[in-house]
Amino acid sequence: MRQAVISGTGLYTPPFSISNQELVTCFNAYAEQFNAGHAAAIADGTVTALEGSSVAFIEKASGIKARYVMEKDGILDPARMVSRIPERGDDELSIQADMAVAAARAALQQAGRSAADIDMVLVACSNMQRAYPALAVEVQQALDIDGYGFDMNVACSSATFGIQTAVAAVQSGQARAVLVLNPEITSGHLNWRDRDSHFIFGDACTAIIVEAKDTATSKHQFEILETQLKTSFSNNIRNNFGFLNRFDETGEGKADKLFRQQGRKVFKEVCPMAAEMIKATIAKAGLEVPQVSRYWLHQANLNMNLLITRMILGRDAEPQEAPVILDEYANTSSAGSIIAFHKYQDDMPAGALGVICSFGAGYSIGCVVVRKL
Ligand code: COA
Repeated sequence: MRQAVISGTGLYTPPFSISNQELVTCFNAYAEQFNAGHAAAIADGTVTALEGSSVAFIEKASGIKARYVMEKDGILDPARMVSRIPERGDDELSIQADMAVAAARAALQQAGRSAADIDMVLVACSNMQRAYPALAVEVQQALDIDGYGFDMNVACSSATFGIQTAVAAVQSGQARAVLVLNPEITSGHLNWRDRDSHFIFGDACTAIIVEAKDTATSKHQFEILETQLKTSFSNNIRNNFGFLNRFDETGEGKADKLFRQQGRKVFKEVCPMAAEMIKATIAKAGLEVPQVSRYWLHQANLNMNLLITRMILGRDAEPQEAPVILDEYANTSSAGSIIAFHKYQDDMPAGALGVICSFGAGYSIGCVVVRKL
């Protein structure tokens, strides 16, 4: 069977960053206004007063210090608390395709490839801005790629599931090279008025090129030794937004049409699942844990990643063993583990082994074992 490599990655970082302090100042102004506006109902017990958010809590509970967003002023306006981004016309490049094209160009350059070398485009992310036509087909046209493209959504695990789909296409001879894109505008599904989760997410887009090893020429190659995917149904991370919402007007404006989670349960259930999957995938690749020098983990919560690496290694990981980007980017859903991979690979010697692992809604977990060439 043909071997596949990751021959290049690219990253698009949005132009605006929001610090925890900025976010908390806005949330607390909103909470004060809400409480003042509902003072009588709060006094008679029919409405619950909102409690303030806290920078110290956010950093301790999650490790997040800031997040990038596509538009900042609307989010930080206590009377609005959602981005202000005008709709684009059908004849303009859509915003998710726009960020995907930027990340794709960077990945193509790193791989030493051009659009003519790509046969397949996958847009794999948590939220698509429209039902159809597929964003992947729009990106394909924008980059002038011949072949085919389609969208897929496996929430936070979209990138690793996308890599596995790309590997299968390369191994079967269906595609010489595949462009996998993860344009995450998570600021669109985040409820900025929910104290429990308003700090969690950020926007970013990553691009990955998977191609046949025997013809790859890139100086940045990682051989894909093994991939393993797993899903197991859970309601603990859920978003009921969808095209059938209009069937029932009573649901309009309900918070269940945005991201919501049982954070404690997710933490408790997902950490052991991810650690077991990583160990099983390393074993399936014919390797042992001590041979692996790097874990590019999904970037949702620092404490989760510390626990998962402790479960794998039986000790605390050194910082370079499990690089952290969530302090600067927050949870960028499927892009997170790929941002870590993109930023923390240059120091690895040829032959070094690593694991990319994502985990999230579904539940879904994806593991990719790679060796630097
Ligand atoms: N500011 C201050 N206090 C806050 C707060 C905020 N923004 N949000 C919640 N709190 C309070 C809670 O009200 C609670 O108070 P109580 O103890 O008086 O009841 C306390 O802080 C602890 O809240 P809890 O929700 O139990 O916090 P946590 O330690 O579980 O951390 C998460 C919350 C979301 C950071 C954490 O559960 C998590 O990251 N889980 C993983 C889920 C995840 O990342 N999923 C994404 C996909 S994998």
